Amino acid sequence: MSRVIKSCIQKGETFACQRKGPMEGAQSLIAKNITKKFHQGSKDFEVLRGITQEFKQGHSYAIVGVSGSGKSTFMHIIGGLDKPSSGDVALFGHSLYKNPQRSDVLNRYIGFVFQFHYLVKELSILENVILPGLIAGMPRHEAVSRAMELLDFLGMIAKAPSYPTELSGGEQQRVSIVRAMFNKPAFLIADEPTGNLDEGNAGQAVNLLLEGCRAWNMALIVCSHDRYVYEQMETVLRMQQGVLAQEK
Ligand SMILES: Nc1ncnc2c1ncn2[C@@H]1O[C@H](COP(=O)(O)OP(=O)(O)O)[C@@H](O)[C@H]1O
Ligand SMILES: [Mg+2]
Repeated sequence: MSRVIKSCIQKGETFACQRKGPMEGAQSLIAKNITKKFHQGSKDFEVLRGITQEFKQGHSYAIVGVSGSGKSTFMHIIGGLDKPSSGDVALFGHSLYKNPQRSDVLNRYIGFVFQFHYLVKELSILENVILPGLIAGMPRHEAVSRAMELLDFLGMIAKAPSYPTELSGGEQQRVSIVRAMFNKPAFLIADEPTGNLDEGNAGQAVNLLLEGCRAWNMALIVCSHDRYVYEQMETVLRMQQGVLAQEK
């Protein structure tokens, strides 16, 4: 385990929302009978056809399936980025889509990693990494000190003042993963996180995701075509004809 993650655990910085008690789904995100339709011309086209699936903290999941099967659509819905046509998402037992503070909840409890890193190119690497902390109200000096620890862990402390375009693709993706984990989200959702990386960089990226998952009791939900990535996840789910079936 990395030194920085170990030190965070020693400081007691485990995820604050590891709630105890009898409430259903207290440590999970549950997709409840999710459907999604898109309009194509005058017709409706149903991509998701009633998916119910629980994702538990501390557990890793892969979602596999052919291109166009609805993986990204589903990930966006469970991550609060796109509304379902029907059904709901329960986060810690509470509806995500009925919550008026949805964007605060998302920033605090859900981290997203995409195939393309989406670092803000006008901001330095350090500023990119501290962004979720500042949005969550963390004092700047605390955010900077945490970001420097994380960059140190990546072996990238010297790159703190650089800009995203000055980094390699693998470095950019590792920074975007660290940024997604900055607030120690309960659920980290990664949509084809290694799709743009060579094997070596893909391996580093997936190790980083798994380490965060173990250290902070996050649920890791990864959509990937890459066998090396999905085989490392504890549960593998296949998206087929609008539903999810468990493969492993
Ligand atoms: N905003 C949208 N409007 C219309 N159709 C969409 C939209 N987003 C996705 N789709 C369609 O939904 C299907 C599933 O897409 P997607 O979830 O991106 O699949 P995957 O991630 O498995 O490749 C595709 O046929 C795609 O064209
Ligand atoms: Mg996709």
